[in-house]
Amino acid sequence: MTGVTARVPAKLNLQLAVGPLRGDGYHDLVTVFHAISLFDQVTVEPAARDAVTVTGEGAGRVPVGQDNLALRAVAALRAAVPDGDRGRPGVQVTISKRIPVAAGLAGGSADAAAALVACNELWAAGLTQRQLCEVGATVGSDVAFALLGGTAVGRGRGEQLTPALVPATQYHWVLAFADGQLATPEVYAALDRLREPGGPGGYGGTGSSPGSTGLGGVVPPETIQLDAALMSALRAGDAALVGSRLSNDLQPAAVSLFPALRKTLAAGLELGALGALVAGSGPTCVFLAASAKRALDMAVAMSGAGVCRSVARVTGPAPGAAVVSL
Ligand code: C5P
Repeated sequence: MTGVTARVPAKLNLQLAVGPLRGDGYHDLVTVFHAISLFDQVTVEPAARDAVTVTGEGAGRVPVGQDNLALRAVAALRAAVPDGDRGRPGVQVTISKRIPVAAGLAGGSADAAAALVACNELWAAGLTQRQLCEVGATVGSDVAFALLGGTAVGRGRGEQLTPALVPATQYHWVLAFADGQLATPEVYAALDRLREPGGPGGYGGTGSSPGSTGLGGVVPPETIQLDAALMSALRAGDAALVGSRLSNDLQPAAVSLFPALRKTLAAGLELGALGALVAGSGPTCVFLAASAKRALDMAVAMSGAGVCRSVARVTGPAPGAAVVSL
């Protein structure tokens, strides 16, 4: 066999409720993941030793050393298969990026998920999706969802997944890519500071989850809960209701680090978006449109409004990481 290629989607969080900082440096989450039709492609081929090459959107900003998430995924899979290194020598990983780097869309986790699926095939390792998810969770919090795709509820660090039983409604999203990046750990740290007793707090509720206090002060874990109204809107396939329930506890932190996002969010709402929010830890902004036509109109107007670097139209949900035949 020569090479194997897998395609993998970016993700949005339709709800992202964040609990307090845990002892291990992570935060407990309740989140509604939603995979979208913005895909990276990852090819793996046998090689003398593990190495990675990156092309496409933001390629120069992807680390190519041992901290590359796709390379870490390859090493984690090799360690997880029964006969270890035997017959599973080096792998050349080639990542073709369309998902922007450090944009809140889990592009690095996506590449790790694609590398797992592709190596599982290349090595005929035969791991099930559940086993791949377990390996993926050791590489990054969002890797398991990139394997699963669709729409799913995530708990824990985000790696404990339950697929959402929702109808096959297609949602139309407009993404506004920012002129800059945000590092996920820094956004979580900014949220912790906002929540410190006596800290700035009081971040006004825009984008905060219905379960959070939004008033500063440490949020106890029992206050993060799945938004039942969002889930029933998804079950009903009602885009307007879904738009009204989008929430992201990281949004005030992302906006505090990247104040220009306020203007971007406001522009989308003025253009008739059913809902607007920052994607994950940002700085990408996401808008839900009522139809494909509305999404096209919004994307054209957003491109001309000078409130972001570039714009994309995508649909969701999209399938998880899968091998493609080229
Ligand atoms: O798991 P992953 O490597 O993607 O996480 C990146 C960083 O994001 C973590 O080091 C941590 O700072 C933050 N994070 C968190 N709580 C989560 C997920 C990520 O604090 N549930």
